[in-house]
Amino acid sequence: MRMEGTPEDVFRRRTGVPVTGSTRRGQWGSQIGFILAAAGSAVGLGNIWRFPYMAGQNGGGAFLLVYLVCVALIALPVMLLEISLGRATQRNPVGAILAVAPGSRWRYLGYLALLTGLAILSYYSVIAGKVLTFCTLYIRRAVMGGAVTYSGATFEVVIYFAIFLVLTVLVVSGGVQRGIERWTKILMPLLVVIMAAIIVRGLFLPGAMRGLRWFLTPDFSKITPRVVLNAMSQGFFSLSLGMGAMLTYGSYLSRKDNVLRCGVWVVVFDTLIAVMAGFMIFPAVFALGGDPAAGSTLIFQVLPKVFGAMEGGGLIAIVFFLLLCVAALTSTVSLLEVVTAYFVDERGWSRTRTVWSVGGAALIVGIPSALSLAEIRPWDTLVLFGKTGFLSVMDFVWGNLSLAIGSLLLCLFAITRWRLARAAAEIEEGAPAFAPFKGVWTFFVRWVCPISIAVILATKVFSLG
Ligand code: TRP
Repeated sequence: MRMEGTPEDVFRRRTGVPVTGSTRRGQWGSQIGFILAAAGSAVGLGNIWRFPYMAGQNGGGAFLLVYLVCVALIALPVMLLEISLGRATQRNPVGAILAVAPGSRWRYLGYLALLTGLAILSYYSVIAGKVLTFCTLYIRRAVMGGAVTYSGATFEVVIYFAIFLVLTVLVVSGGVQRGIERWTKILMPLLVVIMAAIIVRGLFLPGAMRGLRWFLTPDFSKITPRVVLNAMSQGFFSLSLGMGAMLTYGSYLSRKDNVLRCGVWVVVFDTLIAVMAGFMIFPAVFALGGDPAAGSTLIFQVLPKVFGAMEGGGLIAIVFFLLLCVAALTSTVSLLEVVTAYFVDERGWSRTRTVWSVGGAALIVGIPSALSLAEIRPWDTLVLFGKTGFLSVMDFVWGNLSLAIGSLLLCLFAITRWRLARAAAEIEEGAPAFAPFKGVWTFFVRWVCPISIAVILATKVFSLG
């Protein structure tokens, strides 16, 4: 059953407040456009760089188990909430909150989302720049021979970081709907195929099975507050939750689209890629020698060894790193798009002016992170929350804490201001299959998600472990 009415009626019914300003916006050409863009946002360095490095530092199988539990019980409900708030309000994070609760202090949650987006964009592009460097290193070797060595020359690190940001700015300036759909449709399946080939090669290496066992067998004694916080936050990071990216993409959905199907599909696909990355890295770590707990350089140490052991590895390396660049690009695009949507919708800036300004800000904020990879490392002595170096500290503060806090506050906002009945009705519209799950979902967003996020954050803070 669908209640109709003027657009103003519909908007009031969904947000609980009368229309202020225009609700007219661009929309995805089709539901598949949203799925591709949302999956493009989710799948990226978070799956292939961050997941193995986190799993490696947090007990392997124990981390995988806690991660899967967190994704199913916490991240999936939050995903549906974010997409539905975006679709209901047709706004950016700040605008969405103000549409539901005009003039309220909850808008600072929206500002936190924008700040988090800028911060993640800044250091994420540094790592993406490193991936781009590996592309060119392998291309150079294919053409001219010689060895593949990452020099970390300061100039090179900063230039590749800047190139990556410019690419992101160019895609977003054209409007997200147009750019992404075409690319992801072909390139993401190709990434899966290449990863499968690398996995198969790795599994045949002598000693690989030990790595597989290490990744798949949970050692329950390794589950500490730190591991649980890292696993939960990795879920938010990998699924682009907690800073309004899924909200903003959801705002381009139409009322006919199926939020449930979109959300579940993105979660399943993203988790599949992360687990594949584990299969790709850990057998190779154990077979070829390496430390699973090596940290943020893990994949950059291990993958060259795998390619070295592969027939035609040089060529596969080029294709793999190129595809990883594209995957990273569809993620940085979503980060920039959130901030851009705010300035365009709420401040009336032009898209072009916004993307270059925000990109410029990300460049400046990201320079210290870039220097963390370079040979001169002025901030290497920085230690905060037990993390060493500027990039690691940024990743912990914004990629871990801020996303968890943002998701927690979003639940509280939905409970107290938007109302979960309204949220559930929003999800159900276009997704009749959601009806039997309404009660369960409401229970999770009201109790399970906020309480477990709060407890996990608090235990970590008080245990200091
Ligand atoms: N999810 C992306 C990845 O796994 C990174 C990302 C894009 C992100 N947009 C985000 C993370 C928004 C948190 C919030 O690579």
